[in-house]
Amino acid sequence: MRARLQLDPEHGRLPERPKGADCKSAVTDFGGSNPSPATTWKARPRPGFLHPSPTLANVSDTITIRAATDADWPGVWAVLEPVFRAGETYTYPRDIREESARASWLGGEHTRVLVAVDAGPGDIVGTAKYLPNHPGAGAHVANASFAVAARAAGRGVGRALGQAVIDAARADGYRAIQFNAVVDTNVAAVRLWESLGFATLATVPEAFAHPTLGPVGLRIMHRFL
Ligand SMILES: CC(C)(COP(=O)(O)OP(=O)(O)OC[C@H]1O[C@@H](n2cnc3c(N)ncnc32)[C@H](O)[C@@H]1OP(=O)(O)O)[C@@H](O)C(=O)NCCC(=O)NCCS
Repeated sequence: MRARLQLDPEHGRLPERPKGADCKSAVTDFGGSNPSPATTWKARPRPGFLHPSPTLANVSDTITIRAATDADWPGVWAVLEPVFRAGETYTYPRDIREESARASWLGGEHTRVLVAVDAGPGDIVGTAKYLPNHPGAGAHVANASFAVAARAAGRGVGRALGQAVIDAARADGYRAIQFNAVVDTNVAAVRLWESLGFATLATVPEAFAHPTLGPVGLRIMHRFL
């Protein structure tokens, strides 16, 4: 059964950003000089939990999304490692070392990293990152990656991270988001991205060596912001 996420006062709508604030300043580079994000996004509650009722006001399971800090890396790696080792959804080497994963996930100066944090135990239950898909003349199109801990799957974390990245990338001035390699058999991801407005532009045949299914397609998915 899916856990409930705490409702925000707008009954499920992402909170408005404070006047004068923007996500560019709020979403700091991982390891940047400002580890205190100014803005958090509450994980969007499930559609079935949108009713403002006393029962829902007592929901204790709360997940928020914020910019990552240096101290978050062990929690981020704990989310990423099983995903990378499984090798079913990303093209990272399955035996990637932690330091390589850290360098790759955190990226360069233009990479923004978000984490989804369970407010109860303070655990990181999901992470996302976005960056320019290409430099220079292609830098107005973002690329993004996501992972949610298995223990938190199906609770709306992936959807909330996806929406947070859409909002933050738009606020940063990106004009579109492009996913370069969505594994065709990754049904959860394909459904999630389609529901967030992404369309498949093409599927590169047999471009992904799935560990159990063999060669499967890689979708290029895109949406304008
Ligand atoms: C894909 C992923 C991010 C989804 O995260 P999640 O927190 O479990 O997803 P959510 O609970 O927010 O569900 C969002 C949508 O995903 C889809 N979905 C999630 N789990 C699903 C499942 N087991 N089967 C089919 N669809 C599923 C549904 O469309 C769901 O929509 P709903 O809100 O109407 O139910 C997560 O499964 C994950 O990290 N997978 C491994 C890494 C990965 O695939 N990253 C993306 C690479 S493109």
